[in-house]
Amino acid sequence: MDHMNKSTISEFVLVGLSGSWTLQILYFMFFFVLYGATVVGNLLIILTVTFSSHLNSPMYFLLGNLSFFDMCLSTVTTPNMIVDLLREHRTISLRGCMTQMFFMHLFGGAEMTLLIAMAFDRYVAICKPLHYTSIMSRHLLQRFVLFSWTIGFIHTMSQMVLTINLPFCGPNVVDNIFCDLPLVIKLACKDTYILELFVIADSGLLSLICFILLFLSYTVILVTVHNRSTGGLSKAISTLSAHITVVTLFFGPCIFIYAWPFSNFSGTKILSVFYTVITPLLNPIIYTLRNQEMKVTIRKLRTQHINSK
Ligand SMILES: *[C@@H]1O[C@H](CO)[C@@H](O)[C@H](O)[C@H]1NC(C)=O
Repeated sequence: MDHMNKSTISEFVLVGLSGSWTLQILYFMFFFVLYGATVVGNLLIILTVTFSSHLNSPMYFLLGNLSFFDMCLSTVTTPNMIVDLLREHRTISLRGCMTQMFFMHLFGGAEMTLLIAMAFDRYVAICKPLHYTSIMSRHLLQRFVLFSWTIGFIHTMSQMVLTINLPFCGPNVVDNIFCDLPLVIKLACKDTYILELFVIADSGLLSLICFILLFLSYTVILVTVHNRSTGGLSKAISTLSAHITVVTLFFGPCIFIYAWPFSNFSGTKILSVFYTVITPLLNPIIYTLRNQEMKVTIRKLRTQHINSK
């Protein structure tokens, strides 16, 4: 911690989304609505799953927790970005920047791990339907959630321990919508080549390994279903397509940004918007609007609530 004193700058400039004044107002309204919908949608899922007696299957337990991670991930980055759109001097304190990176990687890492648990859940449900309830016990589900938090914590700590001590004394412009680890460590007035490699190994590999595991698990599911019967394949594809969409939109940008952080190209900002703003909104849309069971339960809970008033 005392190394922080060596830094002669106390804040970073977050460039964010720039453009004409009109464009900024449009961005503001767009992201404001998007973020509002993300919070409302995910909260709705969490409350529905928690208070409904119908949705107690393992998938919904995991989905409730995924919604929680989504909401947190979005909250770490989006409100600050939205407020910045109306500000002329977009600065963030050194501490604020570190905090943002810590929580981003905590929830990002946890979410990636939980997505694997959800793929496993789908694998058991589709390939071993008779053993579904006995395999996916409450105990195992709680283990999955705990494991996700643990991986997220180890992942973010391993990087932050090395980042928090970096001295910053010169350039302080972060050309993104939030403090992003690969960009921030490049600003340190110290050779950070090794640290940058470490971030590639840590964040990049985590994204890549999770993505490969998910990809393999979906392949195994589809192959199993295909070999078993010819009619089941299209049903399985329709069940899985939602998962595959989320996984691709979430991991695509992450792998791109973290596995090649040396290539600083202008599309990074757009990709960052994708996995921090768009994906957290997609989960509620995909699972709620496309899912009959979920819709019915939400309606029931609403009626119950109105009747009890
Ligand atoms: C998420 O996981 C926790 C701990 O395992 C569990 O108690 C909780 O019910 C889950 N949340 C939702 C919304 O399902």
